[in-house]
Amino acid sequence: MPLHKLNLEQFEEYFTRINEELYKVFDSRVPLVEEVGQYAVFSSGKRLRPLIFVLCCELCDYSGKDVYQFSTIFEYIHVASLLHDDVLDNAATRRKRPSANQVWGNQAAVLEGDFLFAKALSVAVRADNIPFLTKLTETAVRMTEGQILELAHVNDWQLTKAQYMEIITAKTASLISGACACGAILSEAPSHVETALTQFGLNIGIAFQLIDDLLDYTASEAEFGKPVGKDLREGKVTLPLIHTLSQLAPQETERLMERCAHAGPEDADVETMIRLVRANGALDRTWEEARAFVTGAVDYLDVFPDSPIKRNLQNLGRYIIERRY
Ligand code: FPP
Ligand code: MG
Repeated sequence: MPLHKLNLEQFEEYFTRINEELYKVFDSRVPLVEEVGQYAVFSSGKRLRPLIFVLCCELCDYSGKDVYQFSTIFEYIHVASLLHDDVLDNAATRRKRPSANQVWGNQAAVLEGDFLFAKALSVAVRADNIPFLTKLTETAVRMTEGQILELAHVNDWQLTKAQYMEIITAKTASLISGACACGAILSEAPSHVETALTQFGLNIGIAFQLIDDLLDYTASEAEFGKPVGKDLREGKVTLPLIHTLSQLAPQETERLMERCAHAGPEDADVETMIRLVRANGALDRTWEEARAFVTGAVDYLDVFPDSPIKRNLQNLGRYIIERRY
């Protein structure tokens, strides 16, 4: 299949079953919880994390009927983290619409995130599986650490690539990796298989965030669903900017930092920076690095014989670097 034709349509049946389970699990006696949840969980979202979990279970020959029920854990944790993230970022837009914090305010958005996270754990305990729960809770710890590390480096134009990689590995890749690992754990797969799937998830997760950060410089808002240049405005230094700054003279970096980092960038500063990042090859470099992570991820699947499920996971890796939103 040519790369540009790759999309998620081939997974439609999986998404239908995942959505059915999300509906089944989601209920509250409090109308506001249902209202905000309906908006945050059900009106959009790619469902990539539950899909990856289901595919990993299938790859490990898991035959339990509860796989779709457990897949919801990863969507609930993901949406909970986005609700919190939008409050932290003071974001106005998410998935082409006003963010939940914009519509209901920060307090309701934070509490809805808490609700969804608690819901995820209440589903998880039904697995009655301590290694599964251990992996999940460790994942939540890592995500939070990543987010705090990112916070500690807001407006840090000296941020190194290694520090950036540590942030994105923890805040984003850990959940995707956790979904893969939990698939192996639920399936009682041998430890070398769990390790391979953990690494597969970590590598595609890193690629996913590299592309997210790249799209922040390249996409149109209409496609991406959130404003372009959002990271710069939020003081987030990401790999395209790190590559760009590494090619500038120190005085030039200093001058741009004075304008952008200290007082918060004006529209014109954001445009200047976007132009600079687009002009100097930083985006190609970032994309190549994302591609290398996907290649690395796919190599970890070598422990499995060729099968349609394995090809699905490989395709998903390719989708992650080809996506436009
Ligand atoms: C979005 O990234 C945010 C994350 C990947 C992680 C958020 C994690 C937390 C808030 C802490 C853990 C929370 C729970 C519930 C365990 P981004 O800001 O790069 O993407 P964006 O541009 O879409 O905002
Ligand atoms: Mg954010």
